[in-house]
Amino acid sequence: MPQSKLPIVVLISGSGSNLQAIIDAAARGDLPVEIRAVISNRADARGLQRAADAGIATEVLNHKAFASREDYDRALMTLIDRFEPGLVVLAGFMRLLTDAFTAHYAGRILNIHPSLLPEFKGLHTHRRAIEENAAEHGASVHFVTAELDGGPVILQARVPVHPGDSPEELATRVLAQEHRIYPEAIRWFAEGRLRLGEDGRAGLDGKPLAAPVSLDNTSE
Ligand code: GAR
Repeated sequence: MPQSKLPIVVLISGSGSNLQAIIDAAARGDLPVEIRAVISNRADARGLQRAADAGIATEVLNHKAFASREDYDRALMTLIDRFEPGLVVLAGFMRLLTDAFTAHYAGRILNIHPSLLPEFKGLHTHRRAIEENAAEHGASVHFVTAELDGGPVILQARVPVHPGDSPEELATRVLAQEHRIYPEAIRWFAEGRLRLGEDGRAGLDGKPLAAPVSLDNTSE
């Protein structure tokens, strides 16, 4: 019997290369999800074309058309819920989220962030890692909670910071790792192996994670 697929909705704001990694993994049969919709807050997000090319429904909900963050998030929840996802996937969705939004999707919303959390929360992570002479940098997949980039971390990948790296060079190295770890974490969730526990910790295969799982790649 074919494995049942987890319905997901993916939220983007830009290029959508993580979205593409998810689309590709699902198309290869490596990721048991059905992407019901891709929603962007920006009409010019390149990821919308990637979704359309893959035959996925797209929606644009422009935040500038709303008077407040609360109004926007309420409309976004209504739109997302029309697709009845079992998981909401933030893939470069560059919006701060209200507490009402994060509470509504508690335990069923993931984000990927371009740093080794808890280091470098927020924006411009690559530039900040270089400025602080970090030897290593990377990416983290985490459950989303009310605290910005503060939810329990599930999976990380590290990359070296090379002398003379530009933020763009470092971002490219990190992004390649994002494309490995995000489909992997989503697969764990889709297979029922990954949960946000009552205690607020991420659990994998029935055990709380004492530390994030590491998919390291220091060979580059
Ligand atoms: C990715 O690097 C992702 O980690 C980051 O935006 C980029 C989106 O790229 N997300 C954040 O910074 C969230 N705070 P993509 O559109 O090509 O997937």
